[in-house]
Amino acid sequence: MAPIPVDHAALAAADRDHLWHPFTQQRGWSDEEPLIVERAQGTDLIDTRGRRYIDGVSSLWCNVHGHRHPRIDRAIRAQLDRVAHSTMLGLSHPLAIRLARRLVELAPPGLNRVFYSDSGSTAVEIALKMAFQYWRQAGGGESRRTRFVSLREAYHGDTVGAVSVGGIDLFHGLYRALLFDALTAEPGDAGDMERVLCEHDGEVAAVIVEPLVQGAAGMLVHPEGYLREVRELCDRHGVFLICDEVATGFGRTGRMFACEHEQVTPDFLCLAKGITGGYLPLAATLTTERVYEGFLGEHEELRTFFHGHTYTGNPLACAAALASLEVFEHERTLERLGPKIELLRRLLARVARLEPVAEVRQRGLMCGIELGGYPPAARMGHRVTLEARARGAIVRPLGDVLILMPPLSISEADLTALVEIVGESVAAATAAEPELRAA
Ligand SMILES: Cc1ncc(COP(=O)(O)O)c(C=O)c1O
Repeated sequence: MAPIPVDHAALAAADRDHLWHPFTQQRGWSDEEPLIVERAQGTDLIDTRGRRYIDGVSSLWCNVHGHRHPRIDRAIRAQLDRVAHSTMLGLSHPLAIRLARRLVELAPPGLNRVFYSDSGSTAVEIALKMAFQYWRQAGGGESRRTRFVSLREAYHGDTVGAVSVGGIDLFHGLYRALLFDALTAEPGDAGDMERVLCEHDGEVAAVIVEPLVQGAAGMLVHPEGYLREVRELCDRHGVFLICDEVATGFGRTGRMFACEHEQVTPDFLCLAKGITGGYLPLAATLTTERVYEGFLGEHEELRTFFHGHTYTGNPLACAAALASLEVFEHERTLERLGPKIELLRRLLARVARLEPVAEVRQRGLMCGIELGGYPPAARMGHRVTLEARARGAIVRPLGDVLILMPPLSISEADLTALVEIVGESVAAATAAEPELRAA
């Protein structure tokens, strides 16, 4: 099929005139030539000038089986012939029901209820509000459980509740006066979690963690056993555990959900990003019958969960999600991941030996390559991504940590090319500006 003719220059000008991009300093954006993605195929993105790039960050950590996967495309088209959107407020639809059943089958045992929304942030807001409301409704001394514990450097999204449990100063510091006051524990340190829970015994509604890997912190990997210890501490203190698997879910760590590595069932499991294979906005907050039953009552008791977004459980998104889960089975996606994870480990070992690289962290197909010694103003992470772009790969920095998180479907050849491009780009960007490095 012939590409749709697109005028890159006109689009770029209109972008500069009218758009405001997320997490982007627009002054810098206007100084650079924008890359405008016009189409995609498999793990390649193709821009308005016909150039191809390996999608090294899964279109912001959400694409799973590649772009334009025939099975997912077909499922969305078939649903379009039925209905594109119908509300979940007071009504239901077949795909929301089927997907809920499938998610319950796949999730750690005991998570039997599915509440839909439309982004990772809303999945987290819902878990926070449900936990809070559950304890209010439990009555007696339990209604004192109003506080949340989160980890330093945590990231749970950009809405006000999710930012309140966020711990990244650069993103969250400015808003402190607007937020509720969360308690903070040191990542990976069960002793510190115990200290916080003891000091605030009876006050804590829930602990929220990104299990195994704190993505936006720059792929901070927790020590083995930490999640299990946090689960035990929560049980001992009668506190709920919220696992935010928005980034780690749907195979990224090598299992369907990161919690499985430590046989942990949280009280709330937050899912988004990869749930639709990275096609459409959908999120789900899974919880237990215990929590669900805490909301049952007569109408006048007002135990209803008063929360719901317009596009909650959107049928097209549910169609994509069901098809994506079928692809996991059909293509044996998780079974075939092991060799790719091993290959990535070997490839990264070479990158780790590069002089400007301070540390490489990996869990499954999630990895962070941290550059050392550059002042923030040098924007070395950003420079490396521009070099990578020129060599045919899209990667995105978090400060001076280069994030690699390719689709699970990436071929071994493309994975090798991606890491080689990143290695070359680190060398090129740092060699071009040697004086930028702090003494
Ligand atoms: C762990 C985690 N939670 C929540 C979010 C927020 O998801 P969304 O951007 O879909 O609101 C993200 C996004 O990166 C995330 O990594």
